[in-house]
Formats: sequence, C-alpha cells, structure tokens
Amino acid sequence: MIDMKVNLGGLEMATPVATASGTFGYGTEYVGAVDYSKLGAVTAKGIRVDPWPGNPMPRHAEVPGGLVNAIGLQGTGVDRFLKVTVPWYAKQVKVPLIVNIWGGSVDEYAEVAGRIDACAHPSIGALEMNVSCPNVKAGGHTFGQDPKILHDVVSAVRKATKLPLLVKLAPNVPSIVPYAKACEDAGADGLSLINTIPAMVIDIETRRPVLANRTGGLSGRCVHPAAVKLVWDAHNATRLPILAMGGVYDAKDAIEFMLAGATAVAVGTAVFSSPDAAGNVHDGIADYCERHGFSRAADLTGALEV
Ligand SMILES: Cc1cc2nc3c(=O)[nH]c(=O)nc-3n(C[C@H](O)[C@H](O)[C@H](O)COP(=O)(O)O)c2cc1C
Repeated sequence: MIDMKVNLGGLEMATPVATASGTFGYGTEYVGAVDYSKLGAVTAKGIRVDPWPGNPMPRHAEVPGGLVNAIGLQGTGVDRFLKVTVPWYAKQVKVPLIVNIWGGSVDEYAEVAGRIDACAHPSIGALEMNVSCPNVKAGGHTFGQDPKILHDVVSAVRKATKLPLLVKLAPNVPSIVPYAKACEDAGADGLSLINTIPAMVIDIETRRPVLANRTGGLSGRCVHPAAVKLVWDAHNATRLPILAMGGVYDAKDAIEFMLAGATAVAVGTAVFSSPDAAGNVHDGIADYCERHGFSRAADLTGALEV
C-alpha cells in the first residue's frame, strides 16, 4: 500500500492530485461523476471581492492538443462564495478547498484574502493567488510580470492571512527564477505553475479572431513540456513546494512534474474530455510507485536523475 499523502506548504493532502482553478467549477459540479477520495485538494475558480461577469462569448476555441479560453475570470463575489458556495461544498465534499483569488489592485487582493481568512471555514485549506491579471491602479501592468509588484502583492496578502498561501505564476516571462524568489521572499508557502500561455486563434474565412476577447490563454497537452521546464527551474531556484499544472492528462504527465520537483499536481483542461482524469492520474501514480520501489508518493518529488 503506497502512502499517497503530501504536504503542500502546510496544506495536508491525502493524495498529490488536485484539480486546477477554473476547470472544476466551485468543486461540487462533478459530485457523482468523480471519485473525490482520489483527490488531495479541489481548487475553486477565481474569486474576487465583487461579482465579475467575465468576457463576452465566444470564450473557448479548441486547438490541436489544447484549448484557448478567455472566460475572463467570471465569478461570484467573495461574500456569496463564503455564505453559500463554501457551506454547500462542505456538505457534499470532504476534500480541502484551495481558494483561487484575484484582484485589480494590491488592496483588493488583501481584502479578499482577509475576508476568507476571517471566515475560517474548516473546508478552506489554502489560498492560491492568480497574479496573471492587470493591476488597474498601476497602468494595467500584470502583477505577475514584475518581480517588485509581485513581491508587494504577495506581502500584502501574506499579512492578511495565516492560511497556506500559494502564488500561481504567469509562464510568459523570460525566466521564472526572479518571480519564484520574489514570492519566497514575500512569505509565500508555495508556488502554483503554470497558468495559461497568452494565445490567439483566427478564423481565416471571416478574417476575425475566434474569441470575442480576441486573445485568450492556451492550456492542455500542448503546454505540458513548457510547464515541466518551468517547474524544474522554480524547484531549483527556491525551497517552495510546487503545485504543478499544465497538460496533466495521465499519470505519466503527473510523474514528470513530480520528478522535476512538484509536490503535487493539478488536472485542468483534461477534465473537459475525461471527467475522471484525476482519479486515473492518482491510480497511475500509485502503480508507478509500486513498480519503482517508492513506498511514499512524496519521495517522487525532485527524484529526477541528472
Ligand atoms: C476554462 C479555464 C478557466 C480557467 N480559469 C482560471 C482561473 O479562474 N484562475 C486561475 O488561476 N487559472 C485559471 N485557469 C488556468 C488553469 O487553472 C491552469 O493553470 C491551466 O489551464 C493549465 O493547466 P491545464 O493545461 O491542465 O488546463 C483556467 C483554465 C481554463 C482552461
């Protein structure tokens, strides 16, 4: 029997497999379709202070090996999330919830984090900051693309919460190292990577962008090798544990991430074509550990031979 438990920066996970933000609703949408006992955490879709409508339709375009989406972080505000969504989740699911948060300013991030912290709901196991959104108060520059701004926003959220704090990094930077280090210096407990990669799809017959938003974020199988490299770089640059996502469809993808340094993995786009992908990933990791003489899944982390 393989010990599947891992500790992700203070979040105790029964297995190293989570779901990725924005691809699993608020966590209850798959009840009856997915074996939650194989999940170590569920990540909710992004939450900000107030409700947010997201982008106009169409917001999805399928591409070879992946998906380009421009949902635009549609979501219920934090009040409804805490009063209605989390209690409803807790009634049905016993897996810790990672709450993905975002904002348009440093203050907004701190406010949403502070309100979630104050609610102290036992189902909430950690926060994950999405820093791939524009800082409205600083000329629209993305939080996750300037190490100084990133440090400021992570420090502010760190002060607002005692919950384990993961920072989800933007992949479209020349090197992930200064960003990973900025998060570590600012008191983060872990990193999540990767978020989607900026992308565009054009309908050549109409000569128009397919997405109403014109551009979106690329996810799915096609991003996986790029994500493995970023996880490896971040693992070598800091001591922070990593929740890795980006094209996890099966156990091989997950094990690659863990060997490169991830403590746990999240399944995202794969869920749309295979709702129980995360369960299969779990079983495949256990089987791999058995075959390769690992008694604990945690021992896969960073076990790459170079
Ligand atoms: C439809 C969709 C919605 C997403 N929404 C969010 C979100 O609200 N917050 C966030 O941090 N990431 C969001 N993501 C990014 C995913 O959590 C994940 O980082 C990315 O898709 C890479 O993993 P994957 O290739 O397994 O999907 C979204 C991705 C998709 C496809």
